[in-house]
Amino acid sequence: MKIYLDYNATTPVREEVLELMFDIYRGDAANPSSIHFLGRQARKFVDEGREKVAAAIGAEPSEIVFTGGGTEADNMAIQGTAFALREEGNHIITQATEHHAVLNTCEFLEKHGFKVTYLPVDGEGLVDPAEVEKAIGAETILITIMTANNETGVIQPIEEIGEITRSRKVVFHTDAIQALGKIPFSVNDLKVDLLSLSAHKVYGPKGVGALYIRKGTRLRPLAYGGHHEGGKRPGTENVAGIAGFGLACELAAQELVESAAHLSILRDRLCGQISENISRVKLNGSPRLRLPNTLNLSFEFIEGEGILLGLEMKGIATASGSACTSGTLAPSHVLSAMGVPAALAQGSIRFSLGRENTVEDIDYTAKALVPIIQRLRDLSPFSEEDIN
Ligand SMILES: Cc1ncc(COP(=O)(O)O)c(C=O)c1O
Repeated sequence: MKIYLDYNATTPVREEVLELMFDIYRGDAANPSSIHFLGRQARKFVDEGREKVAAAIGAEPSEIVFTGGGTEADNMAIQGTAFALREEGNHIITQATEHHAVLNTCEFLEKHGFKVTYLPVDGEGLVDPAEVEKAIGAETILITIMTANNETGVIQPIEEIGEITRSRKVVFHTDAIQALGKIPFSVNDLKVDLLSLSAHKVYGPKGVGALYIRKGTRLRPLAYGGHHEGGKRPGTENVAGIAGFGLACELAAQELVESAAHLSILRDRLCGQISENISRVKLNGSPRLRLPNTLNLSFEFIEGEGILLGLEMKGIATASGSACTSGTLAPSHVLSAMGVPAALAQGSIRFSLGRENTVEDIDYTAKALVPIIQRLRDLSPFSEEDIN
């Protein structure tokens, strides 16, 4: 038995994408900057990839810059804006539950003289747009708030924040890496200037990402070299990866409505069966404003790592809300920011579903969990006082 319920961590490359990438690698994989006919063929693959990624988010192809993944896109957006606009101000606004690709970039900028406001979230993981507006000052040059959270699936009010940033003329970046292919959106509806994407979250290859850069947005490159990607990201393009990303986006857009409906039914089935058969379980994150595939639950009195291992022994791959760093089980920064007590945050599990999951997977997982939780609770050193 092998059940994968960790699609927010990464997704397997889908067959159609693999075939296209194999064909490109097996063919005459020339340099797209070469002007001979083989170079022109490679350029065509890159151009088609760009058109498809742009179409998936309602952008112009010329507004897409390919990167080496989502982390690089986030860095390019944040560092690129900060260093391009440093003469105009030194203040950046973000929020507490961002991915480390954003948070650690902001911390790096703090060491270089920038001031960063980390807005809080409420108990459901949501940022208040009014707080965003209040935090804007004369020095504010950039606001970066994610579209959807990777741990809880919580969807932020990006359109409302976009209205505010536009009227206050502040550059607005969103990390939409988890949102792509799961919920519909467009760069114009969101009113963003910069938007990060990653191929491996939508059944494309790892190590390929993109940054949408609205026409006219100023950005300093992270690296210097040739004139690739409109001078914004030098280096010979990852032709097969870009083409694969484009196809993955095209297929994700075609299947989005059906896939979201299917995943939310499975997700709710899993949640329903767990709550019926296991007591003292709490949902983390907004029940309403959430990605259709994500379920983050805290099981009282036990640690997520124990549940993870128990599930693994049954052939089920999931993720826990704590990161095992330097021998201590640190609770997730996302759950901590939502006010989830450390003991509860440590007992959290993220189930993130994807296109290969079936009703049988869900029923098997829900059934397997019952004795795992029971056994861990029997052994648990935690008491009710730790939780309350
Ligand atoms: C919200 C979010 N941002 C950024 C990243 C980083 O993307 P990549 O793995 O492509 O560098 C991830 C992936 O884990 C993510 O979920």
